[in-house]
Amino acid sequence: MITSGTGFGADCPVEEYLISDPVALLHRWLPDDESPPPLMALATVGRDGYPRVRHVLLSEVDATAVYFHTDSRSSKVAELSGHPRAAIALAWPEVGRQVVAHGEVQRASDDELRRTYSRRSRYLQLLAWVNDAETAALDAAERRRVWAEFDRAHGELSPPSTWTGFAIELHEVTFWRGDPEGPSQRSRFRRTHDGWTAQVLPG
Ligand SMILES: Cc1cc2nc3c(=O)[nH]c(=O)nc-3n(C[C@H](O)[C@H](O)[C@H](O)COP(=O)(O)O)c2cc1C
Repeated sequence: MITSGTGFGADCPVEEYLISDPVALLHRWLPDDESPPPLMALATVGRDGYPRVRHVLLSEVDATAVYFHTDSRSSKVAELSGHPRAAIALAWPEVGRQVVAHGEVQRASDDELRRTYSRRSRYLQLLAWVNDAETAALDAAERRRVWAEFDRAHGELSPPSTWTGFAIELHEVTFWRGDPEGPSQRSRFRRTHDGWTAQVLPG
């Protein structure tokens, strides 16, 4: 896990350069499961061909994919149904690091969807329920009233039918490291039939 306070470019243990599996390296850089999920920029291809980008929470990483979760009525879901490919970017500017990746996107399994929903905070579980166009159109006081009423009326929540999630199957992952005393540098991993290929690039 990256910790702030180590300084730009200072948090770069030499043994990291020996890791040939980008998923293992990603796990080293990401916060542990007990910490709040990190934010990532998620790019999709709009139905008009223009790229679209927004931030979402990175819910989890398994052996091949990075997961995020969203509302099935959102634009990103419509975009992914037309063009099931996405790119992500995460940055830790205070320590001088960035990860960018892209790949094919698949809907997460029902088990994964339930598990991830159960790990969300109460606030985010409520948000998945109380987050529709009708409520958004109300004034702030009304929106809060709807929210509080829903909260009061419900104990433990299960995911709404609109809760969905996607696995971005990692095709390419690039790690950027800053160095205050030298040039920045990138390690790029590409998936092939035989595993990962690695390449070192200028920053
Ligand atoms: C800090 C932060 C976290 C967010 N996390 C999520 C998320 O995990 N899932 C999600 O669908 N939207 C999340 N959003 C909202 C999205 O950025 C976006 O506004 C929304 O999903 C609608 O996107 P779309 O119309 O492009 O589909 C988050 C926004 C912020 C600022």
